[in-house]
Amino acid sequence: MTTPMIEVRAVTKRFGSIDALAGVDLSADAGTVLGLLGPNGAGKTTLVRILATLLRPDSGLATIAGYDVVRHAQRLRSMIGLAGQYAAVDEMLTGRENLELVGLLYHVGKAERRRRAQEVLERFSLTEAADRQVKTYSGGMRRRLDLGASLVGHPSVLILDEPTTGLDPRTRNELWTLIEDLVTDGTTVVLTTQYLEEAERLAHRIVVIDRGRVVAAGTADE
Ligand SMILES: Nc1ncnc2c1ncn2[C@@H]1O[C@H](COP(=O)(O)OP(=O)(O)O)[C@@H](O)[C@H]1O
Ligand SMILES: [Mg+2]
Repeated sequence: MTTPMIEVRAVTKRFGSIDALAGVDLSADAGTVLGLLGPNGAGKTTLVRILATLLRPDSGLATIAGYDVVRHAQRLRSMIGLAGQYAAVDEMLTGRENLELVGLLYHVGKAERRRRAQEVLERFSLTEAADRQVKTYSGGMRRRLDLGASLVGHPSVLILDEPTTGLDPRTRNELWTLIEDLVTDGTTVVLTTQYLEEAERLAHRIVVIDRGRVVAAGTADE
C-alpha cells in the first residue's frame, strides 16, 4: 500500500453564506494526474488555493506528501508549482527575466537560475521570444510561459487551474502534450477543468465537483 501524494478529507470552506466547499474528499497517487471537473462556481479554484497553501480550510484536512497544507505551508511551497487560468507573468519583463525572477523567489542561485530559465524556454519553444517583453507575446505564448514559470522551482506537485480555458484548439493540444511530458517525468498533477474532453485525455482519475461537493469520482471510463 502506498500513501497518496495528495489527500483531502472532509474539507470545507465558506465565504459569507456560500459553501464554496461543503466537505470534499479526494486523493491522488504520486506520478498521476487528478482531474477536477466542474462548472463555474463549483469550488475548483477554492480547492486549488487550499492545496497551494494560499487559503486555509475552515475544517477538514489536506495533505501533500504527508505534510499538512496549513501546518507545513512553508515547507510545501518549495514542492508545489501553481499555474492558472490567468497568466501571472509580468508584461514589462522579457520571458527570460520572468523565469529568472521566479528562480530568485525560490532562492535558486544565479547560475542555476539562468540554467533553469534556459531549460524552460527550450522546453516550451520560447527561445526565439526569450528576450522580448511579454507584452508582445500571443495568448498561447503567455500561457506556456506561465506554465514554464511554475516549473522553475522543480516542483514535485504541479497544480493547474483551468490551464487551457480560452485557448484555441491547437494551443490547447500543445499544452496537453507538455503536461503529459511532465507526468512522464514523474510530476504529480492536479488539473481543474470545465472540459470533460480535457479530463479524459489527461487525468488518471477524475473527480467531478458541483456546488462544493464531489458528485462523482473514478477513472475516465467509469
Ligand atoms: N474570496 C471569495 N469571496 C466570496 N466568495 C467567493 C470567494 N472565492 C470564491 N467564492 C465563491 O465560492 C464559490 C466557488 O468559487 P470557485 O472556487 O472560484 O469556483 P470555480 O473555480 O469552480 O469556478 C463561488 O460561488 C464563488 O462565487
Ligand atoms: Mg476557478
